[in-house]
Amino acid sequence: MIGTLRRTLARGGLVAAAWLVLSVAASGAPAASAEPLAAGNAHVSRYSAADYTASSWTAFSSARDSLTRQGGEDATARQKLQRAADGLVMVRGLKSLVADYKTRPAGKYTSDSWAPFAKALANADGVVADASATASEVAAAKTALTTAAGKLAAADEGTFQTITNDVFWNDTSGNPIYSQGGGVFRFGDTYYWYGVHYTGAELYRANPTRKYDGDVSFVSIPVYSSKDLVNWKFENRVATRSTSLASGATLGQAGWVGRLGVSYNENTGKYVLVVQAYLPSMGGDGVLFLRGDSPTDTFDYAYFQTQVVNSPTTGTGDQTVFTDEDGKDYLIFSNREGRSRAFVSKLRESDSLRVEPAVQIGYNSAGREGNAMFKLDGKYYHAASDLHGWNTSVTHVIESTGSNVQGSYTGEYTLAGTEMDYSHVTQTGFFVTVKGTKQNTVIYAGDRWADFAWNGIGYNQWMPVTKTGARPQFHSVSQWQFNVTTGEWRVGPANNYALNPNFQADRIIVPQVQGWTNFRESGPTSLVTNVDGGANGSRFALRIGATQSYAGGVRQQITVPAGVYRLSAFARTTGSLSAAQVTITDAGGASRTLDIPASSGWTRRELTEIPVSAGTATITIRAASGNGYLFVDDLGLVRTSGDTPPGQRYEAETAPAVCQGTIDANWAGFSGSGFCNGTNAAGAYAQFTVNPSAAGTASLGIRYANGAGSARAANLIVNGSAVATVSFEPTGAWTTWATKTMTVPLTTGGNTIRVDPTTTAGLPNIDHLDLGPTAG
Ligand code: GCU
Ligand code: CA
Repeated sequence: MIGTLRRTLARGGLVAAAWLVLSVAASGAPAASAEPLAAGNAHVSRYSAADYTASSWTAFSSARDSLTRQGGEDATARQKLQRAADGLVMVRGLKSLVADYKTRPAGKYTSDSWAPFAKALANADGVVADASATASEVAAAKTALTTAAGKLAAADEGTFQTITNDVFWNDTSGNPIYSQGGGVFRFGDTYYWYGVHYTGAELYRANPTRKYDGDVSFVSIPVYSSKDLVNWKFENRVATRSTSLASGATLGQAGWVGRLGVSYNENTGKYVLVVQAYLPSMGGDGVLFLRGDSPTDTFDYAYFQTQVVNSPTTGTGDQTVFTDEDGKDYLIFSNREGRSRAFVSKLRESDSLRVEPAVQIGYNSAGREGNAMFKLDGKYYHAASDLHGWNTSVTHVIESTGSNVQGSYTGEYTLAGTEMDYSHVTQTGFFVTVKGTKQNTVIYAGDRWADFAWNGIGYNQWMPVTKTGARPQFHSVSQWQFNVTTGEWRVGPANNYALNPNFQADRIIVPQVQGWTNFRESGPTSLVTNVDGGANGSRFALRIGATQSYAGGVRQQITVPAGVYRLSAFARTTGSLSAAQVTITDAGGASRTLDIPASSGWTRRELTEIPVSAGTATITIRAASGNGYLFVDDLGLVRTSGDTPPGQRYEAETAPAVCQGTIDANWAGFSGSGFCNGTNAAGAYAQFTVNPSAAGTASLGIRYANGAGSARAANLIVNGSAVATVSFEPTGAWTTWATKTMTVPLTTGGNTIRVDPTTTAGLPNIDHLDLGPTAG
């Protein structure tokens, strides 16, 4: 310490003070009141009288000046300078928060939430103006302001903003967002997103179809701010390669910087960035603490902790910072070697500058990565990915059995909705929990950053997670809309309902592509694989085929809302194919097929105006041939309009319908003016003539009542041919009506549909026939 001081005093002035304080910080935990001035000449200019309370600055500068005058050899003066440096009270952060919060218009918030906020703001303003405010007064004012701002309730219902995945994101100035492996934290009424900018992210973005460039050279840790979690404003680089660490080291010398989060410490009023780092000159693997005075400050070195008690190794495997509803902060991490243990550690409450002894909450011998936590409806959920090198996987969850974040957890289960496309082709990154006025929604922020599929780094994919029933559910949407005020979300208009539509989730060549089920009608057993060389410069495509006669392909079942859809795909063929098609079949059984003509190069094919009913739809990709292959990539199933073409109703009592019996109206509940009471005899039919909008299959519903004690059987005869048998089960009463649905093939123009009873009981009473939209 003395040596450092003597050396630096020769430089004189403010530089001396900076070095003095640096040596304090580097020697251990600085006292809560010590201001960690950045080391080195480069940063000294950032510090000015305006950053500190007037009285603490006066004391400090007079001590500094007297020491400089004395040439630094006077022990008393040195101690005085030390005390004065320790006593510097920084108000820079509080000033910037006050300036920011003064821009909030009262009219936008409920008066109940505005009153305490206005009070906290006025108080903070007073502390900023108070020349002799103490460090704890500044911290208290900051905490009170942040707390009140965090409780500001919007007076309106908010608006929906669109989140689009599978594309690169820009900030509000149109510049690329480079943010990897970090977290989003809410301080006051604002969300802040911190992550790492790596060189490889720029390289990948500049050329997304090149083979992945795995350059994880650290560039900086940017911070972006947002009120809606969708539009992100670039604020600052809180740390850069030149950020000074201990012993003259800089962050640029780190072998690895990543996996970080920020804790606001209510006691010190400081923002603490907790970063996984490999710092060869400072002990190797560990957790690096940088500290700022506001969320967007330039952060300074505070501490480096290599070992967390109870973890078998130094450093951490993967880590994130989780802030609980009570403001307490935890490091969520796995052990570095093997990553089989899931840990939750408190960040030290006094200053957030230590990771306290780890509590193990989970174990998986295969290892887990991307450890992150969210809380929803009172329960904690720890999520992680498979351990295989930044690859994609299902999301593995363990769930707290009680209300203790460090208590017991259930065994591992797969987060529903992450199975079919490996969590939208990502690895868990972090979670953001939004408590809306109408619902709570968790945002899963995933990383897509593996070299397996030429996906680069810094490629963010965010999906909503909601609780449906007992467990959370992941919604793999490529586009969605989110209302941060109410917490509501909805599927976006350009969402692609096909899952793993680029056949890239596996990241390796497989005979069974994730999310798709193989089927074979004839030919050799293995007809399906993903192959190198996808459309539009991508890595993978689907291939169906063989060098001998075959028929088969893949299917996927998805849940869709009713609407009119567009089906599209890039495709190419080799050899001769007798069939190459993509078919969509809706929940009612109606189907439409996109036929793919032969083409040696990738060609986009599409089919529009496809009516699809709500429920489980099936996408089938099928090929057949003597010798040839079908290649498919970039499949799209997008809902182009919410309205299904109206179905048509045909009443049994209205011509050209025929009723072999009487038209009655004595049993209530029928539509139109009556129903067909067929003669109780075999062959006493009811017949409808329908006019579909197009040829193809259509679903139909026959409304009937059967007050008799047993089912009545009939043939369904379409245009003279029996296509199905129908059993009209008892409905319990002649006034209780039910609908039988089935799918029938129709041609254009008039089609006769006859319900022809096969027993002497005859038909039930037949009310009407509803014809669904035709697909074909
Ligand atoms: C009763 C009922 C009729 C029905 C008939 C039948 O007569 O009133 O509406 O058609 O039973 O068994 O078919
Ligand atoms: Ca009858």
